[in-house]
Amino acid sequence: MGWNSWNSFANIVNSQIIQQQANALVSNGMKEAGYEYVVIDEGWWLGKRDAAGNILVDPKQWPGLKPGQRDGDMANIAAYIHSLGLKAGIYTDAGRDGCSMYPDSGPKYMNTGSEGHYEQDFLLFSRWGFDYVKVDWCGGAKEKRSGAVQYAQVAHAIERAQKITGHRLFFSICEWGSQNPWFWGPGVGGIDTAIWRTGGDIIPPVVESLHDQEHDKRVITVASVLDSFDAGMHPEAQHTGFYNDLDMMVMGMRGMTDAMDRTHMGLWAISSAPLMVGSDLTRLSSATLSLLTNREALAIHNDPYGLQPIKVAEPTPGVQVWAKPTATAGRRAVAILNRTDASAEVKIDPSKLGLDGALRSLRDVWTGRDVATADAAFSVPAHDLLLLLVDGEDKKADEYLATGSDITRIKATSGPTFARLDYTNGTGQVAVIRVKSTSGLSSSLALAPTGASDSGRVGLILPHGTADLSFETQRAGIRKLAVYSW
Ligand code: GLA
Repeated sequence: MGWNSWNSFANIVNSQIIQQQANALVSNGMKEAGYEYVVIDEGWWLGKRDAAGNILVDPKQWPGLKPGQRDGDMANIAAYIHSLGLKAGIYTDAGRDGCSMYPDSGPKYMNTGSEGHYEQDFLLFSRWGFDYVKVDWCGGAKEKRSGAVQYAQVAHAIERAQKITGHRLFFSICEWGSQNPWFWGPGVGGIDTAIWRTGGDIIPPVVESLHDQEHDKRVITVASVLDSFDAGMHPEAQHTGFYNDLDMMVMGMRGMTDAMDRTHMGLWAISSAPLMVGSDLTRLSSATLSLLTNREALAIHNDPYGLQPIKVAEPTPGVQVWAKPTATAGRRAVAILNRTDASAEVKIDPSKLGLDGALRSLRDVWTGRDVATADAAFSVPAHDLLLLLVDGEDKKADEYLATGSDITRIKATSGPTFARLDYTNGTGQVAVIRVKSTSGLSSSLALAPTGASDSGRVGLILPHGTADLSFETQRAGIRKLAVYSW
């Protein structure tokens, strides 16, 4: 959760803008709600290096901010962000050139990528004090590289930098889904946590201070937000630690209405997608801010299982019920998404949510009010979204014990299905293990350490037709799988 400079400032980004936005993140209550990263996207560096290959930045764009600080040192802005109790993010490209060769405004700059300098650059980012790095793909795509190969090398460079500085860079892969990163992103290069973009940009940036024709005509539509959500649903790849990234948020930006903001927030929250807000934080309306800081929506987003939702019903075309299993037994987050031009009446059917019998409670997240379970029927206006928290009784699960590193003879799943996996991991570290199935599942799980005799538990979504699972278990023990009919 945090803020990213690209959507609203593109390549005019500078130290002053970052300070203003970081200050706003604190003063508007977002920091308190859990938004913690301030990420400097493209435009901070124009491709210059010294004779030793070290990145050189414009001293005017990134001046010293305190006595004793040198102009042109990115450690200054990282320290400023840290002084507010926030974390700092930076950006590069996995290729030789970055995206600056396709500038949004201003001239073209070549060589703004890290290829050929991975170890040097990621060590420098870590030394500067950054906590997060977004690695784009413009240069990689131009050179027709393999994403899996390049990003594994970046992961190694991040790990190496951490060994040297003791300081970890969170890995944000930005390859736009072009080479199916949901297959190789989880655990790439052995990394135990990462996010990967699943699609292109929701919109090109809208820089309010630039009044050229290009920027003036950019207006966000609900279709572009929905496209990003649709492209990002890869639930079998996502669970605690590894997340599909649906792109930076455009809430509150030009063209966004309250209903569009609700749709955007509801979909990103129920998907446990990174909440990287791309708007100008000094201009948010109180309606947008209250959605962004809605505690119950954020609790759904931060559910420990970190799963994506499953579409469980579409009573009429374009009126969809999405449900997400949570780490609390019998609890589901439910989004009723109305993509149509007419308002829709939708009744919640507990059996479609994998629940048995009557509901225990029903809560409207936007209003923060309980709704009588007897009338679990809702009216959702055109192009709007209702977010609910539903409590009931889980249907009984089918349980399967592991034999060595396999779980076999699972009753083949008839669609995306929710399961809980019990494991042991006495290594004292997160264990990244591959899991495969003849149904086509091929992913990695990040298993948090457990005590010697305790077991840990993760939630996962099994794809249609899963009848067997095979784990690479050198670093963890697989105990039991509970599969919920859904
Ligand atoms: C790509 C990325 C965006 C942003 C821009 C910067 O388009 O997808 O998120 O980083 O590059 O040029």
